[in-house]
Amino acid sequence: MTKDLLKGLNEHLKLEFRASHEYLAMSIWLNEHDLPGFATWMRKQSGDELLHAQRIIDHLVERDQKVVLPAIAAPPLSWKSAEALCEHVLKNEREVTASINELYAMAEKAKDRPGVVMLQWFVTEQMEEEAAARAVLGRIKLAGNTGVGLLMIDQELATGKVPGMPPSPTDAAQ
Ligand SMILES: [Fe+2]
Repeated sequence: MTKDLLKGLNEHLKLEFRASHEYLAMSIWLNEHDLPGFATWMRKQSGDELLHAQRIIDHLVERDQKVVLPAIAAPPLSWKSAEALCEHVLKNEREVTASINELYAMAEKAKDRPGVVMLQWFVTEQMEEEAAARAVLGRIKLAGNTGVGLLMIDQELATGKVPGMPPSPTDAAQ
């Protein structure tokens, strides 16, 4: 593995751990604000982000590469609204997608086939993550960020799945 790709993958771990930490904080805030369905969804997302970090760690370990775990900053304690919280999720996911795309290009350039194959999974996953965040945000906007509308969306999210999203092909592979 090239030094650049190793450094990039280690740096990417920070984005996954940060997302996991922030989504857990969001789940707590949502529970505090009587939105247990939203909280269930974010709690699941938090767990998924840890699995993403683990997937990269496993790849590095299997290839006898040094893993350097990052320091993670304390997440925010509160958000202005459920809408602001979802905007934050979408922003996070777009940053992760940009990082994955950069890593994928690096692996391709270096003809690092195992790296390309591993990152391919993330390309698909990020497409789904962004689509799900956009779908929830869109429903909040449709509901006009009102109590009744939010309660309806909250019920839909109680399964941890976003309505309207196709079953995830990556779920089984996690
Ligand atoms: Fe992730």
